[in-house]
Amino acid sequence: MKIDNLKGKFDKVFNNGDQASLFRAPGRVNLIGEHTDYNDGLVLPIAINLSTYALIATNEEEKVRLFSENLGEKKEFFLTDTGIKRNDWTDYIRGIVSGLQNRTDPVRGFDLYINSEVPVGSGLSSSAALEIATAVGVKKELQLEDLGDLELIKLCQSAENDFVGANTGIMDQYVSYFGKSGAALLIDTSRPSHDPFELDLSGHELLVIDTTVSHTHGGNEYNKRRKECESALKTINENNAQDNRFSSLSQISAADLKKFKSYLPGIQYKRTKHVVEENERVVQTAKLLQEGKIERAGELFYASHESLRDLYEVSSSELDFLVEFAEEEGIPGARMTGGGFGGATIHLVPKGRLEEYRTKAKSEFEREFDIVPKCFVVLPSDGAKFQPTPNNYQQS
Ligand code: GLA
Repeated sequence: MKIDNLKGKFDKVFNNGDQASLFRAPGRVNLIGEHTDYNDGLVLPIAINLSTYALIATNEEEKVRLFSENLGEKKEFFLTDTGIKRNDWTDYIRGIVSGLQNRTDPVRGFDLYINSEVPVGSGLSSSAALEIATAVGVKKELQLEDLGDLELIKLCQSAENDFVGANTGIMDQYVSYFGKSGAALLIDTSRPSHDPFELDLSGHELLVIDTTVSHTHGGNEYNKRRKECESALKTINENNAQDNRFSSLSQISAADLKKFKSYLPGIQYKRTKHVVEENERVVQTAKLLQEGKIERAGELFYASHESLRDLYEVSSSELDFLVEFAEEEGIPGARMTGGGFGGATIHLVPKGRLEEYRTKAKSEFEREFDIVPKCFVVLPSDGAKFQPTPNNYQQS
């Protein structure tokens, strides 16, 4: 953890370290259920042991003052200027403040010092961790007691959707908030609601390999996939009787889809098939993991990757390389995780093979792409809601 002497560092930047409280929110890894959340489907993520830390204190100015330790950047904006996008990391914070103002909350000025262990652009949800850490801190320090759990999560999601311009689903913010130590969260995003269960990987580690090839959601391809799903739903509903319409692609069964194939344009059919089958894989994976059938769950990881590569078309040569490497090495399961177009893969590695596997994966990847990937062994961890009180974290 990088929280050593954060109060001292806060004090150097803003001069009021003794007033500051520390908040934390984790990144996440999605085990399975990719590109299903904005289709009201199922996802199976864990919050991970890499977090973003936010030290917050109110100030007497009509301003939000920000410092990112990772970037070494100090920024500020007036509370009256929250509608102005800057196309940088401060937009996440502007989006949250602007969302609170729309709720008619009286937003006071505050100082925010950010330090993050979650690598940016790696598919581990650094932006959700930043949003949730900030929102829980702002809620506490500005005494916004009536801001409920789900409302806070949605506020962060809408900062991303409406402010940053990435039309992402609710998964990342949800698990960063509700994640549970030692558990995976089976989330039904249509409600949304979740069902945590103990994650026992029976002698395996969950290794993340970050290709370090950055993905950007604000961009186009992610939003384009979402639109393609909306178009598919529209086509299906236009071809169905009034009493047989669907409110999301996740309501469609595999049997239904067979009937719709004749009229669905190719791209729309492929996207829908991925969503329908991925939802089924989530249900099966959750069951298999709870039964300790890790090898069979791993097969579904591979199947998910194949579907994301061929049907949903969000993989990349770097991600495919790592998953093919895993298959060649006889690892039970591997897949890309997160939105795709770069980012990271997850690998179910037998504990005894971890060092050898990690070393070989890194060197083979470097030989192929001339890039050194980053590796993390991740553990299911508590989300922001389950943190000890900020006082426990305060540094002397
Ligand atoms: C990104 C988004 C999530 C989800 C995944 C793909 O991480 O933020 O909402 O859509 O991609 O499953």
